[in-house]
Amino acid sequence: MTEKKSFYITTPIYYPSGKLHIGSAYTTIACDVQARYKRLLGYDVYYLTGLDEHGQKIEQKAKEAGIDPQTYVDGMAESVKELWKLLDISYDVFYRTTNPEHEKAVQRIFEKLLAQDDIYLGEYAGWYSVSDEEFFTESQLAEVFRDENGKVTGGIAPSGHEVEWVSEESYFFRMGKYADWLLDFYKEHPDFITPNSRMNEMIKNFIEPGLEDLAVSRTSFTWGVPVPSNPKHVMYVWLDALFNYYTALGFENDLENRVDKFWPADIHMVGKDILRFHSIYWPIFLHALGQPIPKRLVAHGWYVMQDGKMSKSKGNVVYPEMLVERYGLDPLRYYLMRSLPVGSDGTFTPEDYVGRINYELANDLGNLLNRTVAMVNKYFDGKVPAFASGVTVFDDSLESEIASQLATYHKEMEAVDYPRALEAIWAIISRTNKYIDETAPWVLAKDEDKRDELAAVMSHLVASLRVVAHLIQPFMMTTSNAIMTQLGLPEVTSLENLALSDLPEGLTVVAKGTPIFPRLDMDEEISYIKEQMDAGKLAQEKEWVPEDVKLLENKAQIKFEDFDKAEIRVAEVIDCQKVEGSDKLLQFRLDAGDSEHRQILSGIANFYPNPEELIGLKVQIVANLKPRKMMKKYISQGMILSAEHDGKLTLLTVDKSVPNGSIIG
Ligand code: ME8
Ligand code: MG
Repeated sequence: MTEKKSFYITTPIYYPSGKLHIGSAYTTIACDVQARYKRLLGYDVYYLTGLDEHGQKIEQKAKEAGIDPQTYVDGMAESVKELWKLLDISYDVFYRTTNPEHEKAVQRIFEKLLAQDDIYLGEYAGWYSVSDEEFFTESQLAEVFRDENGKVTGGIAPSGHEVEWVSEESYFFRMGKYADWLLDFYKEHPDFITPNSRMNEMIKNFIEPGLEDLAVSRTSFTWGVPVPSNPKHVMYVWLDALFNYYTALGFENDLENRVDKFWPADIHMVGKDILRFHSIYWPIFLHALGQPIPKRLVAHGWYVMQDGKMSKSKGNVVYPEMLVERYGLDPLRYYLMRSLPVGSDGTFTPEDYVGRINYELANDLGNLLNRTVAMVNKYFDGKVPAFASGVTVFDDSLESEIASQLATYHKEMEAVDYPRALEAIWAIISRTNKYIDETAPWVLAKDEDKRDELAAVMSHLVASLRVVAHLIQPFMMTTSNAIMTQLGLPEVTSLENLALSDLPEGLTVVAKGTPIFPRLDMDEEISYIKEQMDAGKLAQEKEWVPEDVKLLENKAQIKFEDFDKAEIRVAEVIDCQKVEGSDKLLQFRLDAGDSEHRQILSGIANFYPNPEELIGLKVQIVANLKPRKMMKKYISQGMILSAEHDGKLTLLTVDKSVPNGSIIG
């Protein structure tokens, strides 16, 4: 027996740093479509998706949520898995970089690279974007901030995120050493990157200017995989993350022969923003370890909004859950795969979304099925006539169009050009709709002599829909199954040797077809989607409130990071007296642990008629309030905390044993 053909495909592993939007849904569905397509062609498929759970960004997010990073990523992993379930993603493994097998494997990899001197210890200084987990040179920044002397004080990464200056001891990987090897590899594998044009972009932008050694460890935070021989360092998250594709199969630990079977990967699907990591660093890392290089990288563009990049504060983020809940899963899968052209960005608009459902799904496809089922019932009592070719003068042209679109479909599916693959299917649908107009079955039905022609037309319609139901199966499973069921056929299980004329005999269509897509009220649905996008603006503040926790009555909620901005300290009252010309204010001199005493004015004179009695007490102050001038001449450097009850104010005191300047939080 011959070995089954194998196929290994991966999504990027996503940062679980927030709710996933249609951008990540796009990539995951795109891989799902390819995985399903290859399975239907008889491949043994391994489809990996997962989460990139280490790094400073995750550490920060967990801190904001007030929980430890592991608890944070565990929670996110569950919600991401739920989303993939909703989108019917047929992954074989959901891989997480915090899993101990992965951590141990990348530790072995790091030590190996260190031992063979591909990694060395040095000093790093550069601009770092935590959001991108990426270093930038000054010239790579989209925007640079300067002080009055022209010195660079900060900047903005191309992604729009702020960068900070990072200077620390760091391990480096000798990238430069492998630049020539990589260029040779590109030459020998001109199809390594899809679209091809991106290969030149990588060469021009990153390789020709000189490949710099890459910092591959950090010491300024701890949420990462420790370097075993020097554990104050954690590995750079990209080194850790890229190897997931390999460690998921088992590195030096190939228990189920998965490495044997599936490595090197057939396709890594990535967004254009992370192509650099996959096309430069990843092959070089693997080559340094003597490992085979993945066969192909497919880089896609981004879904953007009419007003630019998706951002919650703009209220233009679209979440897949809402679209699935309202319109079902198949329209979403169809829309995402149909409307993002390969290699460039695409714009999501509610108009486009509702329009495609109405015109392409409900009209073109839905109507073809309805008309076909209705006519087979009307003219042949639901019994589908046997496939007969060359009976009407229109049969040939329909058949050859379908054969040619079938070939196009397979070619485009292999090219991972889904818009074109779907266009090929829709060309079959329109050609078949046209065939109905050409043959005019309602006219044939009036003439007993045209019975054979009418039968041939019906068989072609059913045969064409059977082909369509096969071709859409990787994209729209439910719709494919529904069409097959209405035609009296079993669900699609293979795309091998699909041919129009292979229509099984003796089929009976359902007595009454139900529409597979509802027709939508355009205006109503467009405003619905817009409202939901706006609602996203509000939702961002609520992200971490578990549903079963009732909101207590209080001021607007703030994030932990907002609260954390306040610096509350213990301060001892050194002196306290009334302020002349004011019957409310007391003037305090306080020792808050600073090198000098500070002065704070507080409106509590009514409640403390003998201010000198307060001397020696320890109170709580907000120490980092912007200083302000009061009564025209007094500077107040903070605020003293007091509790209000029945219109009365009482200073919040602290036990004398607590040292001045202690932080309260
Ligand atoms: O980059 N449209 O994770 P990530 C289309 N952890 N794709 C989009 C998009 C949009 N609007 N927004 C984001 C990472 N993406 C790393 C990957 S792999 C070893 C490590 C895509 O969660 C983006 O292009 O920031 C990228 O491919 C993917 O979502 C993951 O982004
Ligand atoms: Mg990113």
